[in-house]
Amino acid sequence: MGNRGKTVVITGATKGIGRAIAYRFAREGVNVAFTYNSNEKLANEIVEDLESKYGVKVRAYRLNILELDEFKPLFLEIDRDFDRVDFFVSNAMIYGRPVVGGYGKFMKLRPKKGLLNIYTATVGAFVRGAQESALRMQKVGGGSIVTISSTGNRVYMDNYAGHGTNKAAVETMSRYASVELGEMGIRVNAVSGGPIDTDALRAFTNYEEIKRTTIERSSLNRMGTPEDMAGAVYFLCTDEASWITGQTIVVDGGTTFR
Ligand SMILES: NC(=O)c1ccc[n+]([C@@H]2O[C@H](COP(=O)([O-])OP(=O)(O)OC[C@H]3O[C@@H](n4cnc5c(N)ncnc54)[C@H](OP(=O)(O)O)[C@@H]3O)[C@@H](O)[C@H]2O)c1
Repeated sequence: MGNRGKTVVITGATKGIGRAIAYRFAREGVNVAFTYNSNEKLANEIVEDLESKYGVKVRAYRLNILELDEFKPLFLEIDRDFDRVDFFVSNAMIYGRPVVGGYGKFMKLRPKKGLLNIYTATVGAFVRGAQESALRMQKVGGGSIVTISSTGNRVYMDNYAGHGTNKAAVETMSRYASVELGEMGIRVNAVSGGPIDTDALRAFTNYEEIKRTTIERSSLNRMGTPEDMAGAVYFLCTDEASWITGQTIVVDGGTTFR
């Protein structure tokens, strides 16, 4: 059975990987509920574009993943607009001022500020989004939850200790969730990306170097794209992935091995 008429909830789909995921699902006839934080105008443009291109229902909601109390009202709003929730993709990530003390060299890490924010935005947001989604998926007999991780939890990346540690944590959390949500027919997995060309990566102080070494290391001789990630996420939400749960799929162009 295809996914036409089902609903996906995606956090942070104004640009980059989240946006590509929204387009991938809409192309398959899936209705899309997605969140934005600061880019309301971009979000509204995406709603219009997806609805007119693919004839699906699309709505955008404001959500700050540092405010975990916002998840409950968010899903109540989604309930008013959509009749079901089948898929949840925990994608949004903080950057800029909230990560000061968390994005940097080990000796500069500040556990009470940046590090804690990254934990909230990575593990906390996954837990709250997955809990609210699971309550809805249970009503329709199951679903699929995907968290977006990064290979920076397996290989060293400059300044990435805070993010890398929390990506490892969210992968482990998704495996725990997969055990307990399995009885509701819900599969839970992670998609872990190597460097993907997005605004978030362009904000890295050593972006040009990362880009050059990624292309060098990749057996495919190129950077990763948001669409590369979206394909793996969508696959995990199809019947083709019906016995895949508690896993991490690595989308890295072969870079991690070299
Ligand atoms: N780029 C990479 O190399 C790479 C590799 C592996 C994994 N990842 C992961 O992929 C995911 C997406 O990254 P990306 O590169 O696509 O990032 P991006 O292009 O910078 O997009 C980030 C998204 O998160 C939203 N966001 C920012 N701050 C937020 C907040 N406080 N509350 C809620 N939403 C917020 C943004 O919304 P607004 O635009 O409305 O502010 C935007 O939609 C992240 O989990 C990241 O760790 C990235």
